[in-house]
Amino acid sequence: MTPTFPDISLSTERLTLRPFEEADAPELAAMMSDELSVAWTTAPIPYTRREAYDWITRRAPAERVGGRGIVLAVVEYLTHRLVGSVHLMNTDWRTLSTEVGYVVAPWARGEGYAAEAVLAVAQWLFRDQKFERLELRTAAGNTASQQVAQKIGCISEGVLRNALIVRSRTEDGGWADIRTDLIVWGLLPEDVEDLGDAGDATTEG
Ligand SMILES: CC(C)(COP(=O)(O)OP(=O)(O)OC[C@H]1O[C@@H](n2cnc3c(N)ncnc32)[C@H](O)[C@@H]1OP(=O)(O)O)[C@@H](O)C(=O)NCCC(=O)NCCS
Repeated sequence: MTPTFPDISLSTERLTLRPFEEADAPELAAMMSDELSVAWTTAPIPYTRREAYDWITRRAPAERVGGRGIVLAVVEYLTHRLVGSVHLMNTDWRTLSTEVGYVVAPWARGEGYAAEAVLAVAQWLFRDQKFERLELRTAAGNTASQQVAQKIGCISEGVLRNALIVRSRTEDGGWADIRTDLIVWGLLPEDVEDLGDAGDATTEG
């Protein structure tokens, strides 16, 4: 039987990470329709509420149940507003290695939320799930995402030349696919300072 991650919620100082709920669909659609989200992710264009609903109800849960990873909504602890999402994917259960992707809503950027959420997931992965490696892949031009990787202690391991397709605005207001280099970052348990000080994890159901 394929191993799977448990259905969990994590809490940090300012954030709760939990499974997406149907009511998140409008905020998820708005977040994924933002310029930087379109530029640096493979999200569908346009990202409609219907798309968000399908992701929340069908495709995100299937990531966990199929053993590929887990998708978590990131919400502000105090306001319950959706500030982002963290997605573990391409999980290799033999090497205990997985890859993380993340998006933060435009209004919530620059507050350290991405770093706080990804670090909490990394601590849970290493401490509770006994994982040995977390990988992060950023486009060469995605400075904000590289800052996040650096802030949480990732080591830049190399460049995969011409390995990624990102999107760039065209003169007529559309989007064009462009090839770019990909930076691979790795985080190992020993790269995380205090694994004992992770946010609380709650297993659902
Ligand atoms: C990447 C992203 C998740 C960062 O979210 P965030 O919550 O703002 O991240 P943080 O606040 O934890 O850290 C962002 C860091 O990047 C810096 N930063 C932001 N934009 C920057 C830019 N254009 N140039 C340089 N640094 C930048 C911020 O100053 C901050 O660093 P600091 O804490 O040292 O000041 C967000 O920008 C986003 O959703 N982008 C679109 C989707 C995306 O790129 N996802 C990642 C794919 S690999």
